[in-house]
Amino acid sequence: MDIKTFGVVGAGQMGNGIAQIAAMSGLEIIMSDIKTEFVERGLESIKKNLQRSVDKTKMADEERNAVLKRIKTTIDIKEMSAADFVIEAATEHEPIKFQIFKDLDQICAHPVILATNTSSIPIGRIAAQTKRPEKIIGMHFMNPVPVMKLVEIIRGLATSDDTFKTTRDLAVKFGKTPAQANDYPGFIANRILMPMINEAVYCLYHGVGTREDIDTVMTLGANHPMGPLALADLIGLDTCLAIMDTLCDGFKDSKYRPCPLLRKYVEAGRLGRKTGQGFYKY
Ligand code: CAA
Repeated sequence: MDIKTFGVVGAGQMGNGIAQIAAMSGLEIIMSDIKTEFVERGLESIKKNLQRSVDKTKMADEERNAVLKRIKTTIDIKEMSAADFVIEAATEHEPIKFQIFKDLDQICAHPVILATNTSSIPIGRIAAQTKRPEKIIGMHFMNPVPVMKLVEIIRGLATSDDTFKTTRDLAVKFGKTPAQANDYPGFIANRILMPMINEAVYCLYHGVGTREDIDTVMTLGANHPMGPLALADLIGLDTCLAIMDTLCDGFKDSKYRPCPLLRKYVEAGRLGRKTGQGFYKY
């Protein structure tokens, strides 16, 4: 199928990043969210990112304008009927994602692939909400989307070869490197990354080190570009907790239990950079 129009459901930090790189690859974009302020904030973030590239003379003014012109925003998910491929990048909460997939299954023509940017919810469980399980696939981008090279592509039990190939080709068109994972909680990226972040929170909780020392150990001692606590703030503490809960429930193994301190921060609304405070203040 020739993909010209690319739909993105969710205009948050992942959704707007995906919309940006898809628009930069030449596709027409429909980016939706549930409130006007959310789509406006998403578009603002794209504008700021593109302006940064213009300021660094990595992008011409005309190109920036052309990319922005290709992005249409809406608060009506029904407008996804015009898309040839849709990716969902909403909050990491099963009932929200399930409803979106039920809606998209009604709204989009049958040949349209419906991908999810879920970071840990099983693809098969999402596919079961639709009548097109062969066209459901995980297309998991990393944060910040415009910078990170990887797209983890996850096949559900019923995902067809055609769906896989189209999705993989799209990731390459976006300038990314795909890696294939099977459908188990957390897939590959978060199965490895999140327990490390969670363990760093346990180190803070147990007083093994300060937040600065924990992050310094991992940046200078393991050559990570940023420490695990700073990375948790970048990803969003609510997302980290949701992923740990999914790993813990999915494997029924206590080795994945989320640190109580992580939950405490989330309950207090300290979600990281997006709320101005997480393990650090912004
Ligand atoms: N959006 C767009 N571009 C960004 C950006 C953002 N949010 N943040 C940084 N950049 C760009 C900068 O403009 C800069 O671009 P140029 O090279 O063109 O100048 C480049 O990235 C490097 O940025 P900085 O020099 O400001 O800072 P840095 O070198 O410290 O890099 C970083 C910042 C890219 C975030 C780096 O610290 C890093 O790679 N951190 C780890 C990120 C990571 O692990 N991500 C995965 C999270 S897990 C996930 O996403 C999966 C999940 O499901 C939770």
